[in-house]
Amino acid sequence: MAFLRRTSQIPTQEAEYPMVEFPDYIQHPRIRAWIQDMVGLCKPDSVYFCDGSQAEYDELCELLVDSGTFIRLNPELRPNSFLARSDPSDVARMEDRTFICSHSKTDAGPTNNWMNPREMHHILDKTFDGCMVGRTMYIVPFSMGPLGSHIAYCGIELTDSAYVAVNMKIMTRMGKAVYDVLGTDGEFVPCVHSVGMPLEPGQQDIAWPCVKDNNEKWIVHFPEERSIWSYGSGYGGNALLGKKCFALRIASVIARDEGWLAEHMLIMGVESPEGEKTYVAAAFPSACGKTNFAMLIPPKSFEGWKVTTVGDDIAWIKLGKDGKIYAINPEAGFFGVAPGTNNKTNPNAMASCAKNSIFTNVALTDDGDVWWEGMTKELPAHLIDWQGNDWTPEDAKNGKKSSHPNSRFTAPASQCPSIDENWENPDGVPISAFIFGGRRSGVSPLVFQAFNWMYGVYFAATMGSEMTAAAFGKLGEVRRDPFAMLPFAGYHMADYINHWLQFGRYIPEPPRMFFVNWFRKDAEGNFLWPGFSENMRVLQWIVSRAKSRARGLETTLGRIPTYEDLDWTGMDFTEEDFDKVMSIDIDLWKQEILSHEELFIKLYDRLPKEMLATRQLLLSSLWREPEWTNRAE
Ligand code: GTP
Ligand code: SPV
Ligand code: MN
Repeated sequence: MAFLRRTSQIPTQEAEYPMVEFPDYIQHPRIRAWIQDMVGLCKPDSVYFCDGSQAEYDELCELLVDSGTFIRLNPELRPNSFLARSDPSDVARMEDRTFICSHSKTDAGPTNNWMNPREMHHILDKTFDGCMVGRTMYIVPFSMGPLGSHIAYCGIELTDSAYVAVNMKIMTRMGKAVYDVLGTDGEFVPCVHSVGMPLEPGQQDIAWPCVKDNNEKWIVHFPEERSIWSYGSGYGGNALLGKKCFALRIASVIARDEGWLAEHMLIMGVESPEGEKTYVAAAFPSACGKTNFAMLIPPKSFEGWKVTTVGDDIAWIKLGKDGKIYAINPEAGFFGVAPGTNNKTNPNAMASCAKNSIFTNVALTDDGDVWWEGMTKELPAHLIDWQGNDWTPEDAKNGKKSSHPNSRFTAPASQCPSIDENWENPDGVPISAFIFGGRRSGVSPLVFQAFNWMYGVYFAATMGSEMTAAAFGKLGEVRRDPFAMLPFAGYHMADYINHWLQFGRYIPEPPRMFFVNWFRKDAEGNFLWPGFSENMRVLQWIVSRAKSRARGLETTLGRIPTYEDLDWTGMDFTEEDFDKVMSIDIDLWKQEILSHEELFIKLYDRLPKEMLATRQLLLSSLWREPEWTNRAE
């Protein structure tokens, strides 16, 4: 198969490199040939085939403790859990070093970095030549989605990082059963990863090997080959290649070709006291509340209501034979933002990472547990911060954080108390509504429902969000992040928008589309909406609207609840408060819609005509209705 051969010349020493001894359970000639090829290129000292067993996981963690990468946490406080501290230069995804190397530049589109695949292969062949000298190459077979599910897809990651191997064990279905699924000729996505720091004989390893110079890091995707190469970083989405690289960038290309969707979405179930279950999927940009929303605990007054978690980051969505759409969570764990997570904001996340978890870039307490900003009200008297230095509350006064803002926990989804009974259902769960939301201190109201699929696609495509530490750019600045997929679409963003329009045409009753904003602020910078649990009040209206029950008042942007339409029991929120968080400022919206133009000009060559038409309709309705409060009774 063509996609397993690199297109440029294979470096010379390869023939001299010893033959890999394969375990009997790998009977797939292309896998063997590819691994042999990569071993010849990367030249590791040894090759280790991961079987995915618990014993192997424990052994690798022990190895990471010995090498100084892991600190074992106090087994009484945090059983079987570890802390890792990354290099200060290696703390988040690297959007400026991420490339989509499609054959044609226009297929990657203006929002992705592109290089000619031949040229890129040439660079990678040189870069990866000997990159694993002195290290072990771990062969990590994994399935994104329940093993053998018709929606799932397998990959194999070759990595010189044991940290990556153990994280992949939590985040994916990792283990040798993948080879049974693949048989002798099954399709898989080949992923190669190196931290980019070969060791000379006798050279001491360091706790977090990586390439220091960010301009020498590479996160590369070949959409036509369906292959991934990552070099120089050991952190999150840069290195756990099943996640953003495969399940979003490569999968979005496969999904475009095959007529399904690979999305940056959480999936959750909402059960009413009568036992009616509704599943929804929601797209928010990185560090904008997907994990929190997916694990929401309804306020006390919502007796009998239950929220269950299917996934917190990625959804693969397909049209079922019955005309409904079904979603699976391709992951098996959470790679969640730590700061801000506590027993009030997200008790389910706290329980998920109570044991068998890996923490990266959080602080270490004196009794051997972890701590991060926002975990407890009271600051610990002393900590070791994420860079290994002493930290006291004095440092907090000087604005020095103990944990990196993008520090994360890696936790098994099975440990989440709210995990949905169908989270591993190979057929997925039926989706009744899509929710989109950015981080906007102004402009966007708490909630509205788009009039129809096309308006929904328009608002999702033009979604804006203020930058966070998980993304690349200036903190707080608004950027257009279509469908929360700007860093993750593996092809031209305009084609992606069109794919959504097309997808809706094939669904007899498309899910309703909703837009939320938990982050509206007043002039003093205080949040106007308390968020977290209280988001249930909005969610209840959404699921009821999705079933065409609750009232939805028509406004310029779409349908909204009035104050009376939401259940305020047990919450002190006046109609005046509500009007503030729901207000639609006509002048700001005119500006907002003007600023969509910038995105549209960028995407001009392939932008679906519907986008411009919808924009015109929106503008005309902004003129028709001067004040949102001027609404019909
Ligand atoms: P990725 O894993 O990066 O894709 O992000 P995510 O969308 O899962 O992010 P996560 O849920 O971890 O978001 C964390 C940030 O959102 C923290 O700063 C939270 O405090 C904040 N957050 C989550 N929900 C709410 C909310 O309802 N209101 C407010 N104000 N902040 C929230
Ligand atoms: C995100 O940035 O959206 C994440 C974290 O979910 S990472 O896997 O590092 O990309
Ligand atoms: Mn994410």
